[in-house]
Amino acid sequence: MKITYYGHSCFSAEVNGKHILFDPFVTGNPLAKDIVDISTIPADYILVSHGHSDHIWDAEAIARRTGAKIVCSWEIYEWFGKKGLENCHPMNTGGEWNFGDFTVKCTAAQHSSGLPDGSYGGNPMGFIVSGQQGKFYYSGDTALTYDMKIVGEFEKPGFALLPIGSNFTMGIDDAVRAAQWAGVKKVIALHYDTFGYIVVDHADAVSRFAAAGIELTLMEIRSTIEIS
Ligand code: NI
Ligand code: MN
Repeated sequence: MKITYYGHSCFSAEVNGKHILFDPFVTGNPLAKDIVDISTIPADYILVSHGHSDHIWDAEAIARRTGAKIVCSWEIYEWFGKKGLENCHPMNTGGEWNFGDFTVKCTAAQHSSGLPDGSYGGNPMGFIVSGQQGKFYYSGDTALTYDMKIVGEFEKPGFALLPIGSNFTMGIDDAVRAAQWAGVKKVIALHYDTFGYIVVDHADAVSRFAAAGIELTLMEIRSTIEIS
């Protein structure tokens, strides 16, 4: 599966010829805004894990340009609806839906989910995406939680995308445990370096995962890798 990284927790996965974009946050990201042009990001679907601005910032603009279907919590669905965005699909924790090109299952995330204007965003979520090119787990912003053992026991994804930046989410050591509980040997790092609170030492992060037998990839912004 091709994964393209746009900085912070924003990435896209190509599944069955479709671009699934996650948590669009570029024009507000000091590390990405000058090197990524959101008018060139392809999207057929936009998955939004929760309402915080560093996950939702560019969702409306990209959805309007591309016509992509936004997949999010019921409360964020209603929020987008009030803005006139009608191609949205509401979900909630534990729910699963077959979009034809792939299936999405919403996992529990231990975090918060207020929207930028103060509206209630419902529960934060992670996603398990399953399609022709494989299955992966994106935890969203979350603490380490025993719920991740459900992912490892029943879902068996090929790889995971996890926050490692600490302060707002799991840090490196908890992300190693999350990978172990989710049963993956390959992890793409998210939610680090963007702000002063979440700067990480890349070599140290890679070596702490390697000590647990897990391959951690810190992608360059705008780069694409093949992973399964
Ligand atoms: Ni957040
Ligand atoms: Mn965040």
